[in-house]
Amino acid sequence: MAVYFLVKGKQKTEGKIIINGAKNSAVALLPAALLTEETVKIDNLPQITDIDKLLNIIRLLGASVSSPGDHSLSINGANVNSFSPSGLLVNQLRASYYLMGSLLGRFGRVEIPMPGGCDLGPRPIDQHIKGFSAMGAKVEMDHGLMKVFAKELRGAHIYLDLVSVGATINIMLAAVKAEGKTIIENAAREPEIVDVANFLNAMGAQVRGAGTDVIKIKGVKKLHAVEYSVIPDRIEAGTFMIAAAATGGDLVVEGVIPKHLEPVTAKLKEVGVEVETGPDYLRVVGREKISPCDVKTFPYPGFPTDLQPHMVVLLTKAPGISLVTENVFERRFCHIDELRKMGAQITLEGRTAIIEGGSELSSASLKAMDLRGGAAFIIAALMANGETVINDVKYIDRGYERIEERFQEVGVSVQRIEEK
Ligand code: EPZ
Repeated sequence: MAVYFLVKGKQKTEGKIIINGAKNSAVALLPAALLTEETVKIDNLPQITDIDKLLNIIRLLGASVSSPGDHSLSINGANVNSFSPSGLLVNQLRASYYLMGSLLGRFGRVEIPMPGGCDLGPRPIDQHIKGFSAMGAKVEMDHGLMKVFAKELRGAHIYLDLVSVGATINIMLAAVKAEGKTIIENAAREPEIVDVANFLNAMGAQVRGAGTDVIKIKGVKKLHAVEYSVIPDRIEAGTFMIAAAATGGDLVVEGVIPKHLEPVTAKLKEVGVEVETGPDYLRVVGREKISPCDVKTFPYPGFPTDLQPHMVVLLTKAPGISLVTENVFERRFCHIDELRKMGAQITLEGRTAIIEGGSELSSASLKAMDLRGGAAFIIAALMANGETVINDVKYIDRGYERIEERFQEVGVSVQRIEEK
């Protein structure tokens, strides 16, 4: 069945949107829940396909999962009896790599294929492995299966060669029940890392320093039940903020932690968009004319790579030259060719997109190729003349909960069409 979005152009996003729970935190909390045999309740979970897939893997491992409410789940991992998650499912999402840390922490072993996920260029996991090895685990590759096992996981002093969200979280998961103290230096500082640390601490772990580049973890014998609510998704929030800026709308993005969005707020102000910051909301008032600017993506608190495609789209509206440099992933520019189909004047030089902005976008038939690039196409389509088709919306569904309905809430026409 072909599923695509049909987006009417020349529309402004207006009104209010309440932001869902953070995908990149939620996908780590579910594997983390397997570190205890007691029941863990997680609220404010986004309803996205990455979560559905992860839950399928967790169920197949033997955990029982129940859903007491729309956005909440209870997980009990007492009957988890396998350290070998289904290869077929693991291949479907990146975040399945968190099962390495959690199953290793729980059983001292895990057998898992390389994780899948969006194609953003090479995505090695050498830093994850380096951390597990430093803690005394042996790692063997056997017919595409990674076998990681340790008689006893011991705390270790680990210096990450590069700042990695996944490696930082995975090492935290393996270390919370290891013998002794683990120190992660050059740790990532993303809000989702703080969220995972808070979750683990609420279960009885001793993790200190999350949110800084040195995280210290003192291993404990046992973790216990917890009820926890996921932080708001700064990337979903940023998506709607940039949509308002790009369409000249007036939108209140509510239920956010404004501090998490400072890099986005700063860039929007730089191009001339008005942003009002409240205690838990950001109001974005777009302008007909905006100024060009340069953007460089970096780990938090730098400008997020996950909003780079949206920013490229916004800057097609700014008369003059803007440079957008992608420093986190080697090849996260597959949206550029599609945007050119809409008339965007963009050239690529290495890791920098050179955008000659100011001319109007026109409708086209596009193909989403990754989660964030796909969402950015919706913004481009709202700016364009005419009606745009966005195919392969499965990529967008991985990380945005019913995005078409969310856009409808803010007054624009984005329709999901399912053709048999
Ligand atoms: C997480 O990916 C997010 N995914 C990504 O979100 C996000 O773009 C990224 O962090 C950066 O913020 C999840 O949380 C599930 P990294 P991750 O390890 O952990 C290199 C989205 O759209 N690297 O911080 O895979 C790596 O290749 C997704 O929501 C190594 O070389 O990112 C990249 O260049 C996409 N060796 C850089 O580090 C390693 O062992 C940062 O990657 C690990 C990473």
